[in-house]
Amino acid sequence: MIPPEPLPSRRALRAERERADADAAATPGAEPSARTAAQAVSAGAAAGALADGTRRARVARPRTRLLVIAAAAILLIAAVAAAVALGGRGGSTTADATQQTRVDPVPAVTSLPVPAQSAATVVAAGCDDPAVSTALAQGSDADVIAALGGATAFRDLVATGSAPCVNLADPVREWVVVNKQRPLSPLEWEPDTVVAPADMQRTVDGRLRPAAADALTALVAAAQAEGVGAIGLNSAFRSFDSQTRTYNGYVNSLGRESADLQSARPGFSEHQTGLATDVAACDGGCGAIESFGGTAQGAWVAANAWRFGFIVRYEDGYTAITGYQAEPWHLRYIGPELAQVYHDGGFHTLEDFFGLPPAPDYVD
Ligand code: DAL
Ligand code: ZN
Repeated sequence: MIPPEPLPSRRALRAERERADADAAATPGAEPSARTAAQAVSAGAAAGALADGTRRARVARPRTRLLVIAAAAILLIAAVAAAVALGGRGGSTTADATQQTRVDPVPAVTSLPVPAQSAATVVAAGCDDPAVSTALAQGSDADVIAALGGATAFRDLVATGSAPCVNLADPVREWVVVNKQRPLSPLEWEPDTVVAPADMQRTVDGRLRPAAADALTALVAAAQAEGVGAIGLNSAFRSFDSQTRTYNGYVNSLGRESADLQSARPGFSEHQTGLATDVAACDGGCGAIESFGGTAQGAWVAANAWRFGFIVRYEDGYTAITGYQAEPWHLRYIGPELAQVYHDGGFHTLEDFFGLPPAPDYVD
């Protein structure tokens, strides 16, 4: 009979533990504190390791647990860091979302802020400017327009009543406005100089003020060069006496009421300023002015007259303002600067252009 193996004494057990601790202390990475931590984390695992009964197991398992714990700690730290980061971003995202929801309409800055300036302020300074006074006294109409800041500023100032130095009733000026409520003064007024426009067909010995005559020559040449056809002169400057004969002719044939829709009374006609002309299509002979609107030349003039300083003064649909039926053949010279602004601004009457009241009827 084999006697049972004697139980180890306490001393033997203590010696065994001390040997194991000494071996573990000699193993890299197996700090006593780590081992203690491993033992604290999983008593069951430690018990299992001890049950293996080998030193390797006792040393290796704590190291594995240490690595697991270290990895867990790293993951925990990373998770905490990520949470913090996400928290920050989350706040930003929330703020961003709030901003996006709020959509504060902040316009892009495209220019420096400019203090508001009333037209009256600009105007007063303009008319008080010595350069304006000098231009009015000695310069051309173009010089005056330039001194007031250009054609757009000129029109704006005049239309808002902010340029008292600009007299729209002065027939010497190319900006003069003559209509049924704005007669020439004196009624018999006429320009100093009128000349025959060069290089065009004509049905009358018509004359215009030099600038208007040159502009008409350029217009006729451009129409020809652009393949539109020939444009000829039908009527130009008409004196008070000439206008009297013309008007009376309409009255005699149509009656006064119809005549007033087609012909101005003497002293009230733009023809008397030397700045207005009637044109006709003249391919193979000049046609009647009444058919001009339906010709290629008529369409071209309506679209291009402004390029030469002219406007079609009496457009279809504006009788309530001008007082006259449509006259696509009646061109009024206002100079290239103002004509461009008139065109670009989409104006249809000189009354609207300069902020004047409609003039459908005579005062008396
Ligand atoms: N036919 C235009 C209105 C004039 O007589 O002046
Ligand atoms: Zn006319």
